[in-house]
Amino acid sequence: MAAASQKFARYTITAALPYTNGPIHIGHLAGVYVPADIYARYLRLIGKEVAFVCGSDEHGVAIPMKAKKEGVSPKVLIDKYHGIIKQSFQDFGITFDNYSRTSAEIHHQTASDFFVKLYKQGDFIEETTAQLYDEQEGQFLADRFVTGTCPKCGNEEAYGDQCENCGSSLNATDLINPKSTLSGAVPTLKETKHWFLPLDRYEDFLKQWILVDHKSDWKPNVYGQCKSWIDDGLKPRAVTRDLDWGIPVPVKGGEGKVLYVWFDAPIGYISSTKEWAQREGKDWKPYWQSKDTKLVHFIGKDNIVFHCIIFPSMLKAHGDFILPENVPANEFLNLEGQKLSTSKNWAVWLHEYLEAFPDAQDVLRYTLTANAPETKDNDFTWADFQARNNNELVAIFGNFINRVVVLSQKYYNGVVPVTGKLTQADNDALKAMQNFPASITDSIERYRFREAGQELMNLARLGNKYLADEEPWKVIKEDEARVATIMNTALQLATALAILSEPFLPFTSAKLKKMLLLENCKPSLGWESIAIQSSLLPSGHVLGKSELLFRKIEDEEITAQLEKLKATKKANESENKNVMPQKETISFEEFSKMDMRVGTILEAEKMPKTKKLMVLKVDTGIDVRTIVSGIAESFTPEEIVGKKVTVLVNLAPRPLRGVESQGMILMTESEEGKLVFLNPDNSEVDNGATIS
Ligand code: 2FM
Ligand code: ZN
Repeated sequence: MAAASQKFARYTITAALPYTNGPIHIGHLAGVYVPADIYARYLRLIGKEVAFVCGSDEHGVAIPMKAKKEGVSPKVLIDKYHGIIKQSFQDFGITFDNYSRTSAEIHHQTASDFFVKLYKQGDFIEETTAQLYDEQEGQFLADRFVTGTCPKCGNEEAYGDQCENCGSSLNATDLINPKSTLSGAVPTLKETKHWFLPLDRYEDFLKQWILVDHKSDWKPNVYGQCKSWIDDGLKPRAVTRDLDWGIPVPVKGGEGKVLYVWFDAPIGYISSTKEWAQREGKDWKPYWQSKDTKLVHFIGKDNIVFHCIIFPSMLKAHGDFILPENVPANEFLNLEGQKLSTSKNWAVWLHEYLEAFPDAQDVLRYTLTANAPETKDNDFTWADFQARNNNELVAIFGNFINRVVVLSQKYYNGVVPVTGKLTQADNDALKAMQNFPASITDSIERYRFREAGQELMNLARLGNKYLADEEPWKVIKEDEARVATIMNTALQLATALAILSEPFLPFTSAKLKKMLLLENCKPSLGWESIAIQSSLLPSGHVLGKSELLFRKIEDEEITAQLEKLKATKKANESENKNVMPQKETISFEEFSKMDMRVGTILEAEKMPKTKKLMVLKVDTGIDVRTIVSGIAESFTPEEIVGKKVTVLVNLAPRPLRGVESQGMILMTESEEGKLVFLNPDNSEVDNGATIS
């Protein structure tokens, strides 16, 4: 067993608190909850004390925004999604010791106390600064209330606190071309007072703690992101907001303001641990304050800065807490080649999956682990899901177990036969089996769950190969005693599989343990038993009733899922078609007043010091005139000279940047926002021809 697991007396495992603005989808599961649950289950199996905590993240701008969209109050919204999320985690077998919520009284108190301690210690800077403000809505714009271009990577949909494209943590005023997501308005600047955590004060600590102490044990993606932030220089970060949804700022002058969601949410891990300890009659403090506790945060890559830079700085400032030993953040999972999105409904929702595939929790757990986005973004496809089930779980794991139990029933009435002299093949198989706990442990301890899951499947492969090589169904005809030894050996492999599969395939493991009646084995068998004893199930042990572990997934089931996604795509496309409503009706007389002619662009020149304007010379058939047109972002002068266009020639002349424009070129806009000429693409039409 890796030395790492010996050093610590207890483990605090946290999984990112999901926002209650939507249900859980496969991206959340693959990135955070499945690996965290494998880790927690494994630790419990090897006898460690574990607090595996999570809860709903119910504050922040995302909540009132979604509530507005659903036409309900934020409270109704959080209650709805908290319920769905909590239930689906439970049905999926995620074994949180506690699942709390940040609207809970215990959390408000814990977060307020945390803030007050830092405030009293003088750890904040109190400053009045100009912040983005939406005049139409009468609202300061922070976080998701504002989008704009990320100054680091150019992503045009960066939020006021973070760019999800490059992972940068931002201040709203850093955004280029900010726009209010509430009204679409361009924000103005307005002064307001806030409390800032001066991250620059923690630079030396972070440099030592991350760049030196954890250089070799943190994942390269996590270490790399941290290094780049630290190298860029850290800036003070506002930890309060002008909002009416959240935890009130508990100090003088904080009236009408709340704590920034990313200040309170990670403290939610502590509150959840407290809630658990209260319920279980335990002391929460060692889980957060003892040096012999290993704290591990499971998160997605968009949360790295908050868990590796900001929260540790808060913990450090506070002074009473331990720091995370590791933050094994995953990359993202895509769905059928497209980014998962709650707002675009591009997801496989956990609660819907469980309705479509009841009793197939382990199939999804297995697929998401086999395809986990540990080192790069990965893609979930329904075809892969079906193949993993039919070709691996059914054909390898299920097939091995099925052969073992069917043959044991048939030849020995479900009683473990007495083994004879072991052959080289038997010894090899048992020896290989005994090495599996160490190799799986090694992968898990290094947060390589994908590798660990495949290693587990290798044990099933070993079992299949052993039976295929030894062919008990043939040998039975000539050497019954030999078959007893083969079946005894195969049953030992099945037992190891039942034990080692628990973290990865808990439902399957439970079924298999029941089939083998492992509960009757005394002393009870555990992870360590396998390495110590090659004979796990004693001769004479009575097996239980057999059950089907995995069923084949049919093409129709996959087609139904793909059809569902197709419908989502279609709905999104039609929603994106922003068709302008029809304007007021006009009379024929009014229409005939417009004089539209076919013309040809003779010359084109970009207007200096403007982004959009181009000065054109157009032959209208009547004359050659100057028209100033806002097309410079869509075309270069060279590509439009000689183009036939439609010109509104009797539009009153108007000066544009000192040049008189004598008409208008008619245009439309493509879906991507590129301008398109309404050009009479017909050489038989002469300049000056009227359009009516
Ligand atoms: O990104 C998210 O979904 C956040 N709600 C995660 C919060 S993790 C924590 F710190 F609470
Ligand atoms: Zn960016």
